[in-house]
Amino acid sequence: MGEGREALAFTTLSGSDLSALPYPRAMRLPANRNELRVVLAVISAGTLILVRVSLPFPQDIDVVRLIFWTGVTLGAASLSVRLPAGLVASITTAPILAAVFDPLLVNPFAACWIGLLGTIELRDLRREIPWYGSLYNKFANVIAAFAASLALLATRPVLAQDDPIGTTIVILIVGLAFITTNVFLAVVVVSARTAAPITRIWAMAIRDALFGATAQVFIGWLMAQVGLRVGLWATLLFMVPLLLARYSFMKYAETRALFFGTVSALSQAIDAKDGFTRGHADRVSRIAGAIAREMGLSERNIEEIELAGMLHDIGKIGVEDQILMKPARLDPHEQELMRRHPIYGATILKPSESLRPLVPLVLHHHENYDGSGYPDGRKGEDIPLGSRIIIVADAYEAMTSDRIYRKAIGHDRAMEQLNRYKGIQFDPKIVRALGTLIENRGPQAFEVSELPQINYETLAELRKRLAREPLARDAHAG
Ligand SMILES: [Fe+2]
Repeated sequence: MGEGREALAFTTLSGSDLSALPYPRAMRLPANRNELRVVLAVISAGTLILVRVSLPFPQDIDVVRLIFWTGVTLGAASLSVRLPAGLVASITTAPILAAVFDPLLVNPFAACWIGLLGTIELRDLRREIPWYGSLYNKFANVIAAFAASLALLATRPVLAQDDPIGTTIVILIVGLAFITTNVFLAVVVVSARTAAPITRIWAMAIRDALFGATAQVFIGWLMAQVGLRVGLWATLLFMVPLLLARYSFMKYAETRALFFGTVSALSQAIDAKDGFTRGHADRVSRIAGAIAREMGLSERNIEEIELAGMLHDIGKIGVEDQILMKPARLDPHEQELMRRHPIYGATILKPSESLRPLVPLVLHHHENYDGSGYPDGRKGEDIPLGSRIIIVADAYEAMTSDRIYRKAIGHDRAMEQLNRYKGIQFDPKIVRALGTLIENRGPQAFEVSELPQINYETLAELRKRLAREPLARDAHAG
């Protein structure tokens, strides 16, 4: 969702290949100096490793084996799945580690070259990511494969004895060396690009990556064993569990896309009815998500807040149009009716199991910090954190975007207003978080939307227009 779809987001299931993040397309070289440094460092280190393992050129290379594992890895790479957050879930960890564990290959030579050549994907060839992005991903794999091979060389004496516990530990150490190196390199480049602290991105990345990749570590070891004892052909049978894993990744991605698409459609329907310019709820959602991330909340909470940001005003469906679209100030009675929209919203969301966690956030999104808000007059920390974030995001968005009836007042004056009412309407620490966020990323940070660009008129505009130019009468209507 919103913010979460940026490169920072490791919110979804992922394979090992976290380095496969989306790169801006048109760029020749990373514009960001830190990112350029990281990219150059990783490419140079990877090249040095490749030269080092290839010189002197190893004797007795089993070429067929080398080609076989490269082919299997290429096959796995072609099956990678795009996940909603711009992440790519890949199943190449298993075959690369199989090559690391295969004693008939000359390692680290073979594993490093398989890491480089076996992970080439269609999107690399189609130049869907810039050349340096492709190179970064490949060389990150070379370095990870090298780390895994070294880990195996260091612990091999244990593996030689037929000791189940020792063997399991060795497998885990080797797998961990591969995964942590790979994830670390992905995190470093994202951190360089976004200027977010490494530790924070690491914390977000490692949990998901470990879950997805650990299974692949064991499959990799099994593939090597079966290749050794039964024959290389039999390792292809392992494509079945890998394909199953891929299938579940895909189903997950589809379900998520469907869910978020539906929520987004709903929120746009409210924007239309409300007379707001298009994308109000979408921007509120992204601003709220960014604040939540700035405050270091968990990815799960961030996602909830983003969804609640999308749907915070859904209860306006229950408010009569004359009130909702009234161009003049509302009288006290009308205000009273308008103030029911958070309650309507909560009632609408409650029956849906996946939307139920948003109910308190939506219900309290007009509670003021000093207790003067509605519907319950809650105060301070008694207001759900998500609601306190949404009210700030909502106010900031309203002040900084153009409306039919007035121009935006701009970032500086909007922040001035937020600061003036902190402690009264807004939670001071949330206003501070928004301030820091925009200081770091610039006021344009929320301009980019993933909503499809459609020529859009609000329901109010449409009604006005149709009142002037009535619809052509149905010929059969008499
Ligand atoms: Fe509202």
